[in-house]
Amino acid sequence: MVDRLLIAGNWKMNLDKAGAIELTNALTKSQSTFKEVDVAVFPPSLWLTEVGDLIGSDNIKLGGQDCHEELEGAHTGDISAKMLKDVGCDYVIVGHSERRTNHFETNETIKKKVLVSIQCNLCPIVCIGETWDERNKGTAISTVSFQLKESIPDELDSHQFIIAYEPVWAIGSGKTPTFNDIEEMHSSIKETILTINPKADKVRILYGGSVKPENAAEIFNLENVGGALVGGASLSATDFSQIISIAGAKN
Ligand code: 13P
Repeated sequence: MVDRLLIAGNWKMNLDKAGAIELTNALTKSQSTFKEVDVAVFPPSLWLTEVGDLIGSDNIKLGGQDCHEELEGAHTGDISAKMLKDVGCDYVIVGHSERRTNHFETNETIKKKVLVSIQCNLCPIVCIGETWDERNKGTAISTVSFQLKESIPDELDSHQFIIAYEPVWAIGSGKTPTFNDIEEMHSSIKETILTINPKADKVRILYGGSVKPENAAEIFNLENVGGALVGGASLSATDFSQIISIAGAKN
């Protein structure tokens, strides 16, 4: 099992500059209670510098929501892992289902993004997860296993990457899998990761999809859950801080 839980807040394409500053200020006020947990926020890339300047502490880390698979070049509108590192990021989310769907990202592209992130000293959070149809057909485990095998490079150590299991149908829907289903999936993810990367026995596997203060305690108690990737609830300083304290109480 991992030593500390990671609670990551993916703000997605929300908040104007004033809103991002307000949320960051509210979070920094509670950060003395974040000591037992690793915390990271993923603001829209335009606000990374402002948010980074405000957090300016070891208790909250900064991450990008995506990066390009190449280090630099003619890619209008894209952001590189190197640029994220330059503005103070430690993490980057890759392969989020919204990127897979809206930007047609393939596992092959995601693997390249993982490699370029590691090259730039960022820790990639690789998102995987099944659709509702796949869950209903009984192919959730095989879908996720396939995504992992195709998108995770081999020879990685536990600290070099993070996995986020986010069932597509649980994102922003208020629905979650049963706790048994989450546990079963996390244990299968761990098994698959170990076949790809035998040294990654302590890899963190986050759960994401409608995590709220109301369900956080039960989720964090599940075996092989190393934290949460939180969307909607990370836009409220109260809810996000509460999820962090629940994680701290578990540690
Ligand atoms: P919600 O917490 O809003 O369901 O979003 C989850 C997510 O997509 C985080 O990356």
